[in-house]
Amino acid sequence: LARVLSGIQPTADSFHLGNYLGAIRQYVALQDTHEAFFFIADLHALTVAPKPDELRRRTRIAAAQLFGAGLDPERAAVFAQSHVREHSELAWYLICQTGMGEAGRMTQFKDKSARYGESSASVGLFTYPILQAADILIYQADQVPVGVDQKQHLELSRDLAQRFNSRYGQTFKVPSPYILKEVEKITDLQDPTAKMSKSSSSPQGILDVLEEPNVLRKKIMRAVTDTGSDVVADEENKPGVTNLLRILSALTGTPIPELETRFAGQGYGTFKKEVAEAVIETFSPIRERTEKLLADEAELDRMLVAGAARARKVARETMEQVRERLGLLPTS
Ligand code: TYM
Repeated sequence: LARVLSGIQPTADSFHLGNYLGAIRQYVALQDTHEAFFFIADLHALTVAPKPDELRRRTRIAAAQLFGAGLDPERAAVFAQSHVREHSELAWYLICQTGMGEAGRMTQFKDKSARYGESSASVGLFTYPILQAADILIYQADQVPVGVDQKQHLELSRDLAQRFNSRYGQTFKVPSPYILKEVEKITDLQDPTAKMSKSSSSPQGILDVLEEPNVLRKKIMRAVTDTGSDVVADEENKPGVTNLLRILSALTGTPIPELETRFAGQGYGTFKKEVAEAVIETFSPIRERTEKLLADEAELDRMLVAGAARARKVARETMEQVRERLGLLPTS
């Protein structure tokens, strides 16, 4: 069975539609056909020093949403990244294989450090993509389901795997990104050329999985559409309508040309109403299951601990080899 792995950060009180369509939905589908590992990237969240209570809360909310969206602890190992301490260990080894210039080219670091101010951004933010490479390589993952914003980080993971293999002998599988073109970048409802993002979208631009149906409906009805009144996909001239068409198509399984025909001559109002209903229909059951799971924190914590135990087995196997290859003495 081929192996898939992905991680998601607990940086907000809810995931959003971009996370769901770009990533989580693929996790749920892939657990049926692959050996699957999915984790909450709490170590990555530490790069911006969240308040401890906030991190704890958000990590549980993230876990509950993953299970609520359909990840099954029997089929997939779902865990908190920090519980498998080998991630941090491998990150150090890989940091030592990465060039300063190579790390400095990561565009997400450049964006984020610009936001925090070059000198107050943490070193962790700089080494962030190398920890991500460790996450992936430690499980010998074949495929990594992500949105297109993670593509550059995936490239770095591939480069580091190849470099390590050529310096120290075959150790890591070289992972491939698994990116679905149609949903690789869901955009902000108010700024439809920018990606929908936990950190940079305004509340009006973002559709949260755990949001009330009425709020979701309002945001979609007020989404920026474009001049004219035709419901047609046109990335260049109609980025807002195109984004909504992609969303509706992904959620209903109806191809975009069919939607264009269906909404011909009807204007934006009817179209947006259908988008809203599709989003609400998708999110409502996830929200209900998430709330139930959050009502029993002890059980939720136990589920994560069990997931980590499964993941750790695989991680340890890789690390034995890695230490030996690097020339570190055996521990027992
Ligand atoms: P994060 O937490 O920012 O996002 C989680 C996943 O959601 C995808 N995504 C989107 N997809 C489509 N449209 C959008 N608007 C959109 N916004 C977010 C992201 O591409 C991602 O797949 N560095 C990662 C977390 C991570 C990771 C890993 C991923 C840590 N270790 C190892 C894969 C493998 C991140 O910050 O994702």
